Amino acid sequence: MTLPELRSNEELRRHEFPVARDKIFLAHAGVCPLPRRVSEAIRDYASRCAQGDQETLLPALQLRHTRELAGRLLNARPEEIAFVGPTSLALSFVAAGLPWKRNDNVLIYFDDYPANVYPWMALAQRGVEVRFLNAREPGRIGPLEVLGQADERTRLVALASCHFVSGYRLDLDAIGQALHQRNILFCVDGIQTLGAFPTTVEHVDFLAADAHKWLLGPCAAGILYVRASLQEQMRPTVFGWHNVWCPDYLAQEELVLRADARRYEAGTQNLLGLVGLHAALELLSGIGLDNIAAELLRQRTLLVPALRNKGYTVLHADAPPAHASGIVTAGPEAGAPVAVSRCAPFQRSSLDTGHGSGFQAYFAGFDFDPL
Ligand SMILES: Cc1ncc(COP(=O)(O)O)c(C=O)c1O
Repeated sequence: MTLPELRSNEELRRHEFPVARDKIFLAHAGVCPLPRRVSEAIRDYASRCAQGDQETLLPALQLRHTRELAGRLLNARPEEIAFVGPTSLALSFVAAGLPWKRNDNVLIYFDDYPANVYPWMALAQRGVEVRFLNAREPGRIGPLEVLGQADERTRLVALASCHFVSGYRLDLDAIGQALHQRNILFCVDGIQTLGAFPTTVEHVDFLAADAHKWLLGPCAAGILYVRASLQEQMRPTVFGWHNVWCPDYLAQEELVLRADARRYEAGTQNLLGLVGLHAALELLSGIGLDNIAAELLRQRTLLVPALRNKGYTVLHADAPPAHASGIVTAGPEAGAPVAVSRCAPFQRSSLDTGHGSGFQAYFAGFDFDPL
């Protein structure tokens, strides 16, 4: 199945994406509906699981293949991929697992989704200073903003690959390169681009993304990437039979961790979820990420002018393709930036413009008909 086939054959599109039968679904930045292939893969495995041991009923190499597909998507090695569930948990593992020293600081963006804010704020208990990055426009962060606010005590910068409200997509390579020149680690919440736009980790040290948005997979079947050379430094904070050596399931006197990213997976896997993730990754790799990204940008170039013609204000409406994403946020007040009144943290942050009646297309898959 190719993208041109999907675009030219509405029957096929509706077959592969059953949600398209009765709606125009605009909320993949929230929670995606499952494509048919993903939902069937889970259903088939679930019915086989009624016949015996769930673990042995999974094809032998399927988990390995899922790690390979995830690695390919990120330009990482399978040994650098762990399956630990939601983004919040994966980012918490990174934050809690690094060897912080008192008065180290970590630079984050307070207006990011809380999954990428709270794990870092919790480090204050360990004497780490948590600094909030300023951006002149919502989510618009580049190497200059980051370097301008980092100093010699900055150990790590944690950012989202794309801001969940404004839809501004970061140049991960440029930011990561700038940080690495200063020996600062770079951690990315990749959930708003992985599966939608190329999101690779050449200059990223840690990346987390659950599957339930643009990856088109089930909830809580996410990916954690940890650069191989940092796996000794980032200690697991959870321990069990799966990540610590235990021949014949017998506990040993010493904790000997696995030598790859499976060291972050303490126990039994979420197999039903990972079967879905596998099917989703196969679907995405078949269609091709560059094709998906081009299609999203094409649709954005239809939507943004249409919204503006109707008098809506669109955040980052003129963003160049390199910073545009699958998220379009618009407000009804001509000339005024959007206030995201339903999104509590923004009421006191850089997005708050005092215009309380804004809304987001992001949340508006439910009740929004711009065209
Ligand atoms: C940027 C971002 N990070 C993370 C999440 C979800 O976090 P989790 O996977 O922990 O539920 C969302 C969901 O809206 C998000 O937009």
